[in-house]
Amino acid sequence: METRVVKAYGDEKKDRELMREAGEIIKKGGLVAMPTETVYGLAGDALNKESSKKIYAAKGRPSDNPLIVHIADMEALPKIVSEIPEKARALAEKYWPGPLTMVLKKSEIVPYETTGGLDTVAVRMPVNNIAREFIRAAGGYIAAPSANKSGRPSCTTAEHVLKDMAGEIELIIDGGAVGIGLESTIVDLTGELPCLLRPGYINPQMLEEILGKIEIDTSIAGVMDEKAHPKAPGMKYKHYSPKGELYIIEGPEAAVTAKINEFVKKHKEKNEKVAVIASEETKDSYKCDIIKDVGSRRDEETIAHNLFAVLREMDELEVSTIYTEAFDTPRMGMAIMNRLIRAAGHKIIKV
Ligand code: TXA
Ligand code: MG
Repeated sequence: METRVVKAYGDEKKDRELMREAGEIIKKGGLVAMPTETVYGLAGDALNKESSKKIYAAKGRPSDNPLIVHIADMEALPKIVSEIPEKARALAEKYWPGPLTMVLKKSEIVPYETTGGLDTVAVRMPVNNIAREFIRAAGGYIAAPSANKSGRPSCTTAEHVLKDMAGEIELIIDGGAVGIGLESTIVDLTGELPCLLRPGYINPQMLEEILGKIEIDTSIAGVMDEKAHPKAPGMKYKHYSPKGELYIIEGPEAAVTAKINEFVKKHKEKNEKVAVIASEETKDSYKCDIIKDVGSRRDEETIAHNLFAVLREMDELEVSTIYTEAFDTPRMGMAIMNRLIRAAGHKIIKV
């Protein structure tokens, strides 16, 4: 199969035609990659179990890892969930459309192939206009995991998607680079207390403003022991990983740069290709041939936006070892570090 990449901005008439065509592909059971404000998604018809099976196959994803159902309008929600708790309504009111996914009890029409065998369904309403137009054109219910191959960093550009999905899907809707760059926040609203399953742009404080007290799934905190069973099945897999070995070096700035320089020197002596992920403020403190600056520590949204692209770049450069600083920033630090820790397979060195 040849994968076409088509730009979806600029020309209104062409865009409308593209959405119609993309919608038809979905209705016939095919797959299309779509831009959202968080990361690119790999879209299929959420209510068609054969489409969901195709998504798992294209991603190389274990089939017990459920997909998020994307809707474009609030009227679409009652059809796919069996109840809408008051707290879900309040959250939707405040943060939908936006980078928030809610886990709710599913209705009968959502196939178990979409929910990975669970009786709950994750639902999100993206704010990205291209995504919403496309969802409507496709019949209203789009199952879409992130459009990367399973285990790889998520895709923040159409080029990333093409790299992972060429030959696997019919169409990539190119909406340019995404805005946020990290996947949506996931909150489970089926239990006694709302529970944060995956941190994202919408942070715990923003959730608590609406919900009051929330729980935070134990797997998020960082150190994951073998006994922890994350409630979002996807969170248990090694994820976001570049091909090189990634290590996080954590501690006071001077100690971190000294330690990383010491490690880099050892690799260079052995003629190994090594890289450093740094911030704008610290990048000049390193003695390494490959230094990637993810942005200023004062601008955490840029760090979040650049993170996956930098991890992917490491693969292009074929480095064998990567050292990164920790980015425990005030607002999005929990989300950034959650992705980084899992990309590093929990290899954290404290100095
Ligand atoms: O920002 C996003 O959410 C992106 C864009 C494309 O919308 N999508 C995304 O999907 O990140 P994915 O499949 O890569 O991640 C979905 C996560 C997985 O960790 C999965 O286990 C969890 O959501 N999940 C899905 N349904 C669930 C459910 N019913 N209960 C608990 N966790 C669920
Ligand atoms: Mg993903």
